[in-house]
Amino acid sequence: MKETFLNLKRSGRPLATLTAATYPVARLLDEAGLDFILVGDSLGMVELGYADTTEVTLADMLHHTRAVCRGVVRTPVVADLPFETYETPEQALATARELVRAGAQAVKLEGGVSHLAQVRVIIDAGIPLVGHIGMLPQSVRVEGGYKKKGRTPEQAEALMADALALDAAGVVALVVEDVVAAVAQEISRAVQCPTIGIGSGSGCDGQILVTADLVGSFPWFRPPFAQARGDVAGEVTRAVAEYVATVRFPSS
Ligand code: KIV
Repeated sequence: MKETFLNLKRSGRPLATLTAATYPVARLLDEAGLDFILVGDSLGMVELGYADTTEVTLADMLHHTRAVCRGVVRTPVVADLPFETYETPEQALATARELVRAGAQAVKLEGGVSHLAQVRVIIDAGIPLVGHIGMLPQSVRVEGGYKKKGRTPEQAEALMADALALDAAGVVALVVEDVVAAVAQEISRAVQCPTIGIGSGSGCDGQILVTADLVGSFPWFRPPFAQARGDVAGEVTRAVAEYVATVRFPSS
């Protein structure tokens, strides 16, 4: 996976990736052809109705990773380590191994320099790892909201330090979430591995979106940077209303 991703970055062809949480969506994404599919812990909000990703459990992630992997035949699947399941290197490795046993080819965790011990132990065990820096959804409660990163020189410097440390540790790719575009571009130029941006401008080596945001299946909240290119919620509402009307008023 690492060599494939490095070659893609060298070739200049941007990586296109999306999230999946269920068998049918995973199967559709696999057929569409993506560079990887992420079983992201955003599924806690868009599939399970939690307030944020800090409520997602390892049992949730294993259940959804298995469902996604049943629908995928050719695309690498990356699964998120959920909140508080990688507090120590030992716990991180145990969690990563469970996700791999559930079918994931790689795992992702949030954090940079602060989590290098966890990152190293997973990579040393031969499990490909995707890093995740910038706005970290699992920190939403301690940070008091979702806040764009890289706005100050100190933040930009810390992000660069995180990116370089993760790259040197051997991550296969680096998700850069909701970071000022110029900072994300600078990071993308500085690291060897491909950066996968979300809300971080077009200067990254690839892009990821939460599929529910892309297809419009979760109309109650969509981050400002995510452009919906479908209206699944509208289509469900329309089909259900039509069905209810034909059942209740069959002759009209
Ligand atoms: O959980 C998720 O869907 C993610 C993406 C936003 C990158 O981590």
